[in-house]
Amino acid sequence: MASEIIEKLKWRYACKKFDASKKLSEEQVQTLKDAFNLTATSYGLQPLKMLVISNPEIKEQLVPMSMDQEQVKDASHVLVLCRENGISSDYIKTHFDRIEDIRSTPREILDPFQEYLLESFAGKKPEEVSLWMAKQAYLALGNLLTVCALEGIDACPMEGFEPERYDALLGLKEKGLTSVLVLPVGYRADDDFFSELKKVRRGVDEVVIEIN
Ligand SMILES: Cc1cc2nc3c(=O)[nH]c(=O)nc-3n(C[C@H](O)[C@H](O)[C@H](O)COP(=O)(O)O)c2cc1C
Repeated sequence: MASEIIEKLKWRYACKKFDASKKLSEEQVQTLKDAFNLTATSYGLQPLKMLVISNPEIKEQLVPMSMDQEQVKDASHVLVLCRENGISSDYIKTHFDRIEDIRSTPREILDPFQEYLLESFAGKKPEEVSLWMAKQAYLALGNLLTVCALEGIDACPMEGFEPERYDALLGLKEKGLTSVLVLPVGYRADDDFFSELKKVRRGVDEVVIEIN
């Protein structure tokens, strides 16, 4: 089992050329939506949303905003990982209401933790909160990359895009969101030169330090 997972992780690569004729099934897309939502986040606050774009015209318009990387046009779907534009007191309170609702956790247990988070976030600069939220988006990206590999879905993690242009095209400001990362998903083209290349990695012994 362990070696099977490693084989799948070796199979995955940052796909440079997708086969535009191959589409993910609804079930596969649902798996990616569920995996996104199951991503662990700091305090469980999930300060993220994910756009799932399959519209061909919109995908085409994304190319010049993505450093002319054609993956966003040819992929079956383009996932855009977004962070919230801020964390309000109401957002935090809603989170604790949800815990109370789902787990029936008594308020006397929840309230001190809620107060702690309300105070903690009130004391942070907006840039600090934005950075913290962006880190959560990277976690979701990692989770999605692994799930794609396990499901045999090709993907290309992308920082190479212009967030402000994405935000304007996709109406993200109106949704209270800012784009952080892009993940085209689908199937590799048969002639993607990169799919045959060997993995370039430092040695495991070089990057892992054991302290026994
Ligand atoms: C956060 C992040 C951003 C990346 N941005 C891009 C990108 O804009 N375009 C691209 O072709 N590859 C991008 N990559 C892919 C990396 O170059 C690639 O993952 C790395 O070279 C390792 O190769 P592999 O994923 O094929 O094993 C990105 C990867 C990560 C994790």
